[in-house]
Amino acid sequence: MDKQGLQVAIDGPASAGKSTVAKIVATRFHYIYCDTGAMYRAITWKALQAGVALDDEAAIKKLLDGIVIRFEPGKPVQKVYVDDTEVTLAIRQPDVTNAVSQVSALSAVRSELTERQRQIADAGGIVMDGRDIGSTVLPDAEVKIFMVASVDERAQRRLKDNAAKGIDTPLATLKYEIEERDRKDSTRKISPLTQADDAIRLDTTSMSIEQVADRIAEIIQEKESLEK
Ligand code: DC
Repeated sequence: MDKQGLQVAIDGPASAGKSTVAKIVATRFHYIYCDTGAMYRAITWKALQAGVALDDEAAIKKLLDGIVIRFEPGKPVQKVYVDDTEVTLAIRQPDVTNAVSQVSALSAVRSELTERQRQIADAGGIVMDGRDIGSTVLPDAEVKIFMVASVDERAQRRLKDNAAKGIDTPLATLKYEIEERDRKDSTRKISPLTQADDAIRLDTTSMSIEQVADRIAEIIQEKESLEK
């Protein structure tokens, strides 16, 4: 291997458990973890703060060009910054969650963030999660996983996650929001949520987080030994 490790792409619909599993796997292999959804959320947060219309592509691209989105290690979650402002919690609030599909459908936003994500992944040793990592951002990633789970299971998982963050949204609302985001993420014109041809599909509905992480770790180990 000439890089510092493999590129691992984990894609799938909202609340399939991607980020939890990606973090565990990254820690096990001493890889960097990159949450690309957080980058789309960060520019959405910025657009809401600035009061820019969510379909004003030129204005949002200008905002994006003027900001640095960066991650810092943190417990229990990685910290996210827009320039010097910490937005870790703000980007998980319902206003951002409900607006992010619209902003992430903008072509100028996608190409800029895709470019930034490729730079982050360039040296290898990375676990990157999102919707289009295996299909568009890192088409040559050595490991591609597509994680799915039923809508009911994903709504339950989000409920638990939210409770831990002090966010109180009823289960029925979460289920509706997940279905809506699935629909928008899968039907947008550019880089829709889609399984890459060479991705391994994992249905995690009745698997624990540990089981999913163990399965992905096995796949990475197999690939790492092939690359040596
Ligand atoms: O994973 P998440 O729920 O934090 O992602 C937030 C939104 O960002 C999601 O609705 C779709 C979008 N997204 C995307 O379009 N492409 C990615 N690679 C990651 C997220």
